Amino acid sequence: MERIKVHDKYFKIFIPNSQIEEAIKKTAEKINNDFSDEDCPIFLSVLTGSFMFTASLMKEIKFECEMAFIKLSSYSGTQSTGTIKQVMGLTKDVKGRKVIIIEDIVDTGKTIMALLKILENAGAADVKICTLIHKPDSYKEKAKLDYVAINIPNDFIVGYGLDYDEYGRQYKDIYVLDQD
Ligand code: IMP
Ligand code: MG
Repeated sequence: MERIKVHDKYFKIFIPNSQIEEAIKKTAEKINNDFSDEDCPIFLSVLTGSFMFTASLMKEIKFECEMAFIKLSSYSGTQSTGTIKQVMGLTKDVKGRKVIIIEDIVDTGKTIMALLKILENAGAADVKICTLIHKPDSYKEKAKLDYVAINIPNDFIVGYGLDYDEYGRQYKDIYVLDQD
């Protein structure tokens, strides 16, 4: 069993890269079916966690689109703090535009709700949510997640962009906290 040390904790292999890439391709196919050149949506990548997912997903997108970024922060260690800070604002005007949010993970849903508020205030015409990982057992919000690549139980994971206190984002596979 492959085990890695990230900062001060041990993690074990959970989702291999091949499985992640396959799930992303399926998600991209769904998005390709739902949008066309005329929509010309803005993909909004939520930094830092979704950088790797964004790169992989965008390579499969066939219709005309633009890219924007935003950076929010809510986590400290392995716990969500509940307060969302806007570390870097929207890099593009979304007024009257269709937006597809690209998230690394939707856990409690607090971050996604804060994002929806930001986009509503910025005058986005339509917002869809796309996430690589979802933890349905800890989701507390009503907002519909339009595109979910992979559902997981309520465990803490790292890799493929996801961090533990900013460490471990570079791994191509996803690892889960090893309790023993
Ligand atoms: P939420 O606001 O509780 O939905 O949390 C969303 C954010 O928390 C994500 O964008 C991640 O940055 C972080 N997060 C949630 N679960 C995990 C995890 O298992 N590993 C790493 N980061 C996580
Ligand atoms: Mg994070």
